[in-house]
Amino acid sequence: MSQRPAPSLLLLFLLMIPGVSSAGWGVSYSPSHICALKNSSVIMSCTYTYPTGYWIRKVFWTKVFIRRVEPPDLSEDPEYSQRLQYLGDEQQNCTIRLSHVTLKDSHMYYFRFTTDKDGKWTGYPGVTLTVTDLQVESPERVTEGDSVRLTCKSSCTLTDRATFIWYRNSQLVTTGIIGNQLNLRQVSREDTGRYSCGVDGHSYRSPAVQLNIRYPPVNPVISISPSGEIKEGDSVTLNCSSDSNPPAEISWFKGGMFVGSGRIYSISKISSDDSGEYKCKSINEQGEKYSAVTLNVMYPPRNISVLINGSSEIVSGDSVTLICSSDSNPPALNFSWFKGRRFVGSGRIYSISKISSDDSGEYKCKSINEHGEKYSDAVTLNIMYPPRSVSVSIIQSGQILEGDSVTLICSSDSKPPAEISWFKGGTFVGSGRIYNISKISSDDSGEYKCRSINEHGEKYSDNLTLNVMYPPRNVSVSIIQSGQIWMGDSVTLICSCDSNPPALNFSWFKENESLAVGSGQSFSALQSGRFYCQAHNQHGSQRSDTVTVTVHHGDDRNVIVIAASSGGLFIIITIIIIIIIFIIQKKRKNRRSLIHEYENDSPRTGTYAALDPKLRSSDVYNTLTSVCLSHRLSIPDLLITSRALFNMRISIFKQHPVATYGQDSGIVLRD
Ligand SMILES: *[C@@H]1O[C@H](CO)[C@@H](O)[C@H](O)[C@H]1NC(C)=O
Ligand SMILES: *[C@@H]1O[C@H](CO)[C@@H](O)[C@H](O)[C@H]1NC(C)=O
Ligand SMILES: *[C@@H]1O[C@H](CO)[C@@H](O)[C@H](O)[C@H]1NC(C)=O
Ligand SMILES: *[C@@H]1O[C@H](CO)[C@@H](O)[C@H](O)[C@H]1NC(C)=O
Repeated sequence: MSQRPAPSLLLLFLLMIPGVSSAGWGVSYSPSHICALKNSSVIMSCTYTYPTGYWIRKVFWTKVFIRRVEPPDLSEDPEYSQRLQYLGDEQQNCTIRLSHVTLKDSHMYYFRFTTDKDGKWTGYPGVTLTVTDLQVESPERVTEGDSVRLTCKSSCTLTDRATFIWYRNSQLVTTGIIGNQLNLRQVSREDTGRYSCGVDGHSYRSPAVQLNIRYPPVNPVISISPSGEIKEGDSVTLNCSSDSNPPAEISWFKGGMFVGSGRIYSISKISSDDSGEYKCKSINEQGEKYSAVTLNVMYPPRNISVLINGSSEIVSGDSVTLICSSDSNPPALNFSWFKGRRFVGSGRIYSISKISSDDSGEYKCKSINEHGEKYSDAVTLNIMYPPRSVSVSIIQSGQILEGDSVTLICSSDSKPPAEISWFKGGTFVGSGRIYNISKISSDDSGEYKCRSINEHGEKYSDNLTLNVMYPPRNVSVSIIQSGQIWMGDSVTLICSCDSNPPALNFSWFKENESLAVGSGQSFSALQSGRFYCQAHNQHGSQRSDTVTVTVHHGDDRNVIVIAASSGGLFIIITIIIIIIIFIIQKKRKNRRSLIHEYENDSPRTGTYAALDPKLRSSDVYNTLTSVCLSHRLSIPDLLITSRALFNMRISIFKQHPVATYGQDSGIVLRD
């Protein structure tokens, strides 16, 4: 065997075993340093030499090198036995392969051989094996738009020519690889991911590293739950989601006011006041963004009220408009109107043209939307109107007798209540709804009406006639003819009186005789005597004073009736006649003359109209009565100083020049 020169050997260290020649002995490793990737297979190439004439007894690899200590054979180490493969031979090739290397395998390895004579040899120094893993190195803070360089790091330079490969989320990245670096230009959020690297041809991959790219929030998305229509009382949740890195902080605003923070904003039992625009603000260090949603809370009608359009006072004939106002969401479109409980119309506006008092009453409206309905409070329409149905009624039934108490009532319908005035024949007599006449007298007969007046008008009632009944009074006896001398053998007496109703029943009596001597309004006295009449109606009777009548049957029987009129002419004529009579009487002084003087039964003075009984119908009665009562004019009695006219009295009538005699003035002249 010869010792061969070995220029390729990096190092040859021949360890001489004591007592052994060193010529031709050697071990060389090529390469002597190996950097291997974890889990790869490593080939440690090795050659050895020894002098000729020796026989190799044993070859093996070991990790241990201690002098004079027999090292362990690596192939017997259970850690290695499975992975180690001796590729060489027993002459000069000592190559081995170690597969699935681990970091623990990093060590120096030696080859050792034993020959048949003198010696055991170890190649020192051995092969240095370094096993490395890979680590991705990335910048800590990456913002969108930056250029980023990722480096795949190993603890030693791989001995094999290595081509690096890169993965993002386990997907192969093909661009931007230079050496062990991955260059990402102007990263965007899409470049976010877990990056790992490896070496082509090796299954080993580095642990993945998260590349965190910071970016501002994107427009937040607000979701509303429940979706769809929101009704009052619902519980509503707003969820604002916004993509950003790092995660954004969320806050909520309503109409500019901060109302809460966090992704979720909840409103339990939402009310209409919660309607409005809600903004969600999403903010991180990179920026902020807003989004808004509008909540429209639906609710049934409420706050229903009726407005009356126009003046506060409604007068019949006005046009009145009622407006139903209500608050609801959605706005109510369905309105109904009720008067009392009766439906009268629909629509937001209810109009009454030419309102009448019949339209008075309580009105209300009902407002309906799809969430409910509600009634307004009632409003009262108080319609003013002028008086109407004005009438007078009398409490008494039947006839009214003098002395009765009579109550008249004026009834009228009006709003506001009317003021009542009373009129008798056009003359105001009183006011107030009730007109009372206590102890009515015949003067109170007449036509009554009342007037009802308020600020909207006035109205008169029809006339009511009061006809006061009374028994006969002022009964007197008179003689029809006037201003003439009446001759005959009888004297006609007429009984007149004042009564209501008119007396139709007259009786004539001779003084001190109980039996009537005649009836009827007129009576012919055929004999002289003292007579009186008695008048009756259903309310009573009264008698007249007594008059003395002397009837003479003969040539000279004359009855002279003297009357006068109220006119001056009549007074003059009367005076002339009296003077004539006086003269005549003087001439006849010697002749027998007689004056009948009549004493009165009573001292009072009364005068009576001579009335034609045919006219005394009830139709004209009132007129006649008023003639008697109102138009009487008394003048002082004329005193005639004549013997013949002694104690004579004359009464003069204003309009009715009829001869009259007082009870105490019946006169009969005798020639
Ligand atoms: C040693 O043996 C291996 C495997 O058989 C071979 O690949 C290698 O080339 C050999 N080395 C030398 C120097 O012959
Ligand atoms: C090591 O490599 C083998 C194939 O060579 C492979 O099946 C195994 O999964 C690898 N182990 C690891 C942890 O990479
Ligand atoms: C809010 O919205 C996000 C995205 O839509 C969703 O993932 C999350 O579950 C929601 N949260 C609630 C409480 O609904
Ligand atoms: C009637 O009677 C009264 C008394 O009773 C008496 O005074 C008078 O003279 C009488 N008259 C006549 C006409 O008889």
